[in-house]
Amino acid sequence: MLDVVRDAVPGVPYSCEEGYCGSCETRVLAGIPEHHDTVLSEDERRTGRTMMICVGRARSSRLVLDL
Ligand code: FES
Repeated sequence: MLDVVRDAVPGVPYSCEEGYCGSCETRVLAGIPEHHDTVLSEDERRTGRTMMICVGRARSSRLVLDL
């Protein structure tokens, strides 16, 4: 997901690209994220309001991010 976002928003912050630094944390406006990071707590994963876009994916057919 980060590669696609970088094409659209060249200045998007990121660092590790492996889901552990938190640099790419992005707010989710709509849709259901699938988390693969080690940054968010279980509660944060459940609410789905934010995600690490370097390793995260979309669980729903549409995912709207606050970029
Ligand atoms: S770039 Fe480090 S968590 Fe995404």
